[in-house]
Amino acid sequence: MNVTALVLAAGAGTRMKSDLPKVAHELLGKALVRWVVDAAREAGCTEVVTVLGHGREFVAPLVRDTVIAIQEEQLGTGHAIMIARDHLEGRTGSLVVLSGDSPLIRAETIATLARMRKETEASVCVLTQIADTPFGYGRVVRDEQGHVLRIVEQKDCTPEEALLRECNSGIYCFDIPTLLDCLDRLSTENAQGEYYLTDVIEICVNDGRLVSALVVDDAAEALGVNSRRQLAQATKHMQQRINDFHLDNGVTMIDPDLVWIGPGVVIESDVELLPLTYLSGETIIGKGTVVGPNSRVIDAKIGRNCTIDETIIFDAELEDNVVCGPRAYLRPGTYMCTGSKAGTHVEIKKSRIGTDAKVPHLSYIGDATLGHDVNIGAGAITCNYDGVDKHPTVIGDGAFIGSDTMLVAPVTVGAGAVTGAGSVIAKDVPDDALALERNEQHVVEGWARHRRESE
Ligand code: UD1
Ligand code: CA
Repeated sequence: MNVTALVLAAGAGTRMKSDLPKVAHELLGKALVRWVVDAAREAGCTEVVTVLGHGREFVAPLVRDTVIAIQEEQLGTGHAIMIARDHLEGRTGSLVVLSGDSPLIRAETIATLARMRKETEASVCVLTQIADTPFGYGRVVRDEQGHVLRIVEQKDCTPEEALLRECNSGIYCFDIPTLLDCLDRLSTENAQGEYYLTDVIEICVNDGRLVSALVVDDAAEALGVNSRRQLAQATKHMQQRINDFHLDNGVTMIDPDLVWIGPGVVIESDVELLPLTYLSGETIIGKGTVVGPNSRVIDAKIGRNCTIDETIIFDAELEDNVVCGPRAYLRPGTYMCTGSKAGTHVEIKKSRIGTDAKVPHLSYIGDATLGHDVNIGAGAITCNYDGVDKHPTVIGDGAFIGSDTMLVAPVTVGAGAVTGAGSVIAKDVPDDALALERNEQHVVEGWARHRRESE
């Protein structure tokens, strides 16, 4: 397929009321413009050109794999094409023009649009939608036979034209030489004083060239994000599309409206996602695992048959049968081996928790290596940071760390060793030893009764 894609992404998006350019805003963790570029790639577009302008320092890093054309002043969608002219001159074949603010467009639709233009030998094939609320979109004006005549912008509409429900999606496929030929004839004589790309349609019709239109089945694909409300609408549509995909693959969600899954997440069958679960980044969830309620998993690899209950996991890896939460926080570099546990109010960072090892309650474990079957008592923590550097803690297989033990790193507790509750362990403990660091208990007989009676 000899198709080049051009993504328009230079506008400020003033209706967003944001310091960030509109197309850099994220939808389920991926920038709007990135959704569009990825769809173009997936559709088989050989080259993608992006037109950037407003806030390009934010947008350019998002589209590094594309050819970037800079539109210093945003004089309209037609002007954006003029800016990209150098990249198009001399090319034959098709140009798919996409809007950086229309993230719901499907790759299949782009491919169908390009195929349709080729088959109908039209100069341009425009993708249209039948909108429930057409306000704000350009309207498609057709003659009695149904041929497209022109596109009229909202601000240029007559009252009759404003009643039309067929709208321009802002997505087109052009024959490149014809498009370049028409560009010089665009004018700024319209309500917004801009060069409208949409005027190319009327120029083609007046030249007697063939113009065709494809009405998109799912109008949501043409949703343009101009405001925060539309961003929320687009997110809802994409959430549904992604969730439907996983539901069809055998994932249970008792309320899919309350589950948000990013585009890069892989989920095996028989996973259950409970309400208020967010999965994002390069996350993988293994078969039989239950996540939620109220959990966030970001860039994590989770094995099979795990339980992730009210837990936050970020950049960590869990083997099979791991239990987390309620209310655990697993931070970058955490590796939980098979059958291990990070329980209630437990925070773990950059640590390896051995097979069947348990950290059940109220602990902080950082820069530590725990062996097989280690048990950490309630409230025990690693003191891994001395205010300057981080130090490691190593706990051998089968060791038992008493409640509220402070492990002052660097420190090693040998295999099979025990520490007494409340101990501050600042020196290494040999295998199979007991380490107890505790003042002797002082008992004064009758003291409490005496105080009560003297009040
Ligand atoms: C545009 C269409 C309208 C269509 C709608 C679909 C025109 C004149 N109008 O209107 O018919 O129904 O999209 O969503 O084309 N951009 C640039 N440079 C510019 C101006 C805009 O790159 O000088 C980019 C924007 O960043 C945006 C896209 O082009 O990604 C569309 O621009 P926008 O201002 O949102 O156009 P609409 O008013 O929505
Ligand atoms: Ca728009």
